[in-house]
Amino acid sequence: MPGFPIDVHMSEHGLLDSIADDVRRGLSAPQKFLLPKFLYDEEGSLLFEQITELPEYYPTRTELSILTDIADELMGRVAPREIVELGSGSSTKTRMLLDAGYNAKTLAKYLPFDVSQTIVESACVELQQRYPDMELHGVIGDFERHLGLVPPPVGKRLVLFIGSTIGNLEPKERLELLGEIRKMLAPGDCLLLGMDQVKDIGVLEAAYNDAAGVTAAFDLNVLSAINNALHADFNVAEFRHRAHYNRDLDRIEMHLYANSAQTVHIADLDMTVEIAKAESIWTESSHKFTQDTATAMLQEAGLTLDAWYTDSLRYFGLALATAQGLALDPHMSLRRGD
Ligand code: AVJ
Repeated sequence: MPGFPIDVHMSEHGLLDSIADDVRRGLSAPQKFLLPKFLYDEEGSLLFEQITELPEYYPTRTELSILTDIADELMGRVAPREIVELGSGSSTKTRMLLDAGYNAKTLAKYLPFDVSQTIVESACVELQQRYPDMELHGVIGDFERHLGLVPPPVGKRLVLFIGSTIGNLEPKERLELLGEIRKMLAPGDCLLLGMDQVKDIGVLEAAYNDAAGVTAAFDLNVLSAINNALHADFNVAEFRHRAHYNRDLDRIEMHLYANSAQTVHIADLDMTVEIAKAESIWTESSHKFTQDTATAMLQEAGLTLDAWYTDSLRYFGLALATAQGLALDPHMSLRRGD
């Protein structure tokens, strides 16, 4: 018996059902696409861990260095009683903040929220060793559907959405998600949002077309993931990975291009897909931000930027935000008229 509760709002079966609908929709569209979340089956998650260590892939190490620099100041300034982390994964980078809050004796509870039960369980086992006096409460769900099921706050709350996962969402989807996050914030509560920044195109494209081919393997693996999940017969060797930067939309777009014409059968969907030579399947967008575009995005969702943390090269940004009209210091509004 684990010493921490884990609420499961999404079964394996529920995940498969939604994959089926999304794959059917994506492979029927004029520009074929697969959703970025399909990249993270077991093999894909391992490949992503390898990507984070690549010399060309700067985001993970840059964000970690910013978190290391700001942890004490941030946790002193916000002093949350609990941290809710969306897409927590292995909670590795989060430890910087957990350490600071735990040592300051202000942080009492950590709630990792992720689609993968396995990963949340193993993260909690390790965290329990490291922070014996901290309450842990895992939540398994899809943050686009199950945010309302996060347990009620035990005190001042910090919501973490780091890793630039927000960059994978389309503008409309991310606006909806930020609106839902806003509903989780009471006066004094904060959101810390991690975003990759707009920069030199050569640096951006190299990060998604690495020399060792790990990103290519990660991208191509989505076809194996679909083959496994839906009994399809994509010939993975007949596709090649390429990522390019779209300057108009400030995003990296990853595609898989067919080397030759392909006919793919997807048994579980009772579907046949024709793919022409050189046609592409779009597998991921990774939006890049500036402090200004991040501020505007938060504003549109009813959030106000309180602080912007970045590195010396301005490669990555972490935005600290509060719900509009709700002050960071609750005493400013609560003490009136006493
Ligand atoms: C997990 C969203 C941060 O967009 O950089 C890495 C995933 N894709 N290489 C990103 C990814 C290709 C990634 N995020």
